[in-house]
Amino acid sequence: MKAIYLTGFMGAGKTTIGKRLSEALQVPVIDTDLYIEEKIGKKIADIFTEDGEQVFRKYEREYLRLLPNRDVVITTGGGIVIQEENRRWMMNNGHVIFLYCDIETIFDRVKTDPTRPLFDAVHKENTRRLYNQRMSFYNEAHFILDTTSKSFDDIVNSILLWL
Ligand code: S3P
Repeated sequence: MKAIYLTGFMGAGKTTIGKRLSEALQVPVIDTDLYIEEKIGKKIADIFTEDGEQVFRKYEREYLRLLPNRDVVITTGGGIVIQEENRRWMMNNGHVIFLYCDIETIFDRVKTDPTRPLFDAVHKENTRRLYNQRMSFYNEAHFILDTTSKSFDDIVNSILLWL
């Protein structure tokens, strides 16, 4: 089985769905953010404040290439798609599944979250702008699934049917 890359905006449910999918397929799950945190020895929020977003994006690009591309579910950070080479890498090395979720639903789920430096629940227009800017990148995926108001079971079943 080719690697499965789950993409989508912060709060779309990538981590939970990735875990469930990996159990159903009996393959490991790797989260790009956790992988970076382990390798660098710093939390994502600290990388952003101490080193800046550009350094984080460099890690994201470098470590994505080190992950296995078979028999694995890879859950990605919401901004992985902004680098063209990451989109190309994922499209060429596995199945890219975009977990679409309506932005208002995401606001209901994610309140202010110190672990997500780019999620601004106070100035919602900033978060909406980021969401809109990224939509065309997410839409390049092999499979697009609208997860808004669907149960985790339904989402995982739809992915399994598509595979
Ligand atoms: C980011 C999303 C985060 C994390 C970092 C940047 C983004 O991951 O990679 O804070 O640019 O959207 P999640 O999508 O898992 O929250």
